[in-house]
Amino acid sequence: MEALKERTVGQIVADDYRAAQIFRTFGLDFCCGGNKTIAEAAAGKGMDTEIVKKALQDLANGEKEHNNYNDWSIDFLADYIINNHHRFTRDKLPEIAVYARKVARVHGDRHKELIEIYAEFTRLHAEIIDHLDKEEEILFPYIKKLVEAEKTGTKPDVANFGMAADPISMMEEEHDEAGASMARIRRLSNGFTPPEDACATYRVLFENLEGFEKDLHKHVHLENNILFPKALELERTLH
Ligand SMILES: [Fe+2]
Ligand SMILES: [Fe+2]
Repeated sequence: MEALKERTVGQIVADDYRAAQIFRTFGLDFCCGGNKTIAEAAAGKGMDTEIVKKALQDLANGEKEHNNYNDWSIDFLADYIINNHHRFTRDKLPEIAVYARKVARVHGDRHKELIEIYAEFTRLHAEIIDHLDKEEEILFPYIKKLVEAEKTGTKPDVANFGMAADPISMMEEEHDEAGASMARIRRLSNGFTPPEDACATYRVLFENLEGFEKDLHKHVHLENNILFPKALELERTLH
């Protein structure tokens, strides 16, 4: 229990991704706001943090999570993020855009929020693609070079952006923006709950948005709480 008190929610989820579900249930942000303790994350929410700790304790006493991302080498983790989360994002965004556009056009007159959702989503779509490109073309190749340098016992070349801290803090800021954007969509869609009379496409849109948000949280968590801090640490030891 004592350890839980001092650790950040990001570290707790990094140790066992199943903890994400617990934080999600209690509405605590573990990805963008991952560098807070449970008490800090819960501040102002009027909840009993002992209940959260009890749920985490039960988890720790059960079977371990199958994928222990924290044990993976970071070049492998970077590839996993690209092949899994970036692939999903690149496939899903255009698909959701079609639903969002259609639903806004057909039902926007009676449900004005659908027009706002479409506008917010369109903005987010463009920003995320740009973000993925930067990670895939600049930051992740640099991280893989650090691992390579460590393996071969050489000093890594200095990148044209300097040290990793700059692009990493830029990526973290963009994560915050994407997270805030999805939180707005969540609010506008009443927690992704379609109205009684919603048609099939309307429901498919909300289901997809919810699934997209869930994937985004995990994706951001793997970068903010595992990949980036480890890359910074490795860079420090190599220079
Ligand atoms: Fe990413
Ligand atoms: Fe990212």
